Amino acid sequence: MNREKKHLELNEKKWDRWSASLDSDGWKSKFLRQAQQEVINLLNPKDDVRFLDVGCGTGWAVGQAFKLFNGKGTFYGADLSEKMIEKAKENFKGYVNIHFIKANAESIPLEDNCFDIIISTNSFHHYLHPDKALKEFHRLLKPGGKLYILDPTADSVFLKLIDKIVKLLEREHVKMYSTEEFKNLFKLTALKYSDTNTITNHQKIHIGKKLN
Ligand SMILES: C[S@@+](CC[C@H](N)C(=O)[O-])C[C@H]1O[C@@H](n2cnc3c(N)ncnc32)[C@H](O)[C@@H]1O
Repeated sequence: MNREKKHLELNEKKWDRWSASLDSDGWKSKFLRQAQQEVINLLNPKDDVRFLDVGCGTGWAVGQAFKLFNGKGTFYGADLSEKMIEKAKENFKGYVNIHFIKANAESIPLEDNCFDIIISTNSFHHYLHPDKALKEFHRLLKPGGKLYILDPTADSVFLKLIDKIVKLLEREHVKMYSTEEFKNLFKLTALKYSDTNTITNHQKIHIGKKLN
């Protein structure tokens, strides 16, 4: 099996296992939800928004976005894990303008230029080809659309070390990037890197904009 296929298989299996506990009250869910809420808090009200969460898990942030925009718009979540998507669909059964699709962040089967906002929280460091994922986000954003990536950000020696340790422990782990690396990756796709929002010493939101 080639490296890419193996990585996707390991990655999907891991998140399929996690899907059972993501909606629980445990500390991991609390930690992840606090982080998701930090991104939602940055979004500005807009009529008829088109919103996408990549690596959406069971869809919690999609639900928070739906509330923020008073249900006016179209809300999508995409995730590699079949089981996460099954749960997300169950959680939002009956909502006609909320959709979930199983997809790799590097290839999302949706039209060009169709989203005002794309978010991705605690997911980006699992993508085998971060440049391909960013190109995909660029393709999906409308001109002027905004991207918010919240991820562990390896700006400190401590997080660089954690990154190396996790890499030894988990075969599917890819890489935690520094702010500088995020800026360079954004450049590759012509996304304008507009801001860094620091959540904790180790977690940052990297904000980009698709130029008109
Ligand atoms: C730690 S969970 C975070 C879930 C949610 N975004 C949150 O903040 O709670 C990481 C998520 O990223 C998804 N993921 C990992 N690699 C992916 C990929 N290549 N494409 C799409 N989703 C991916 C996983 O399936 C999992 O649901």
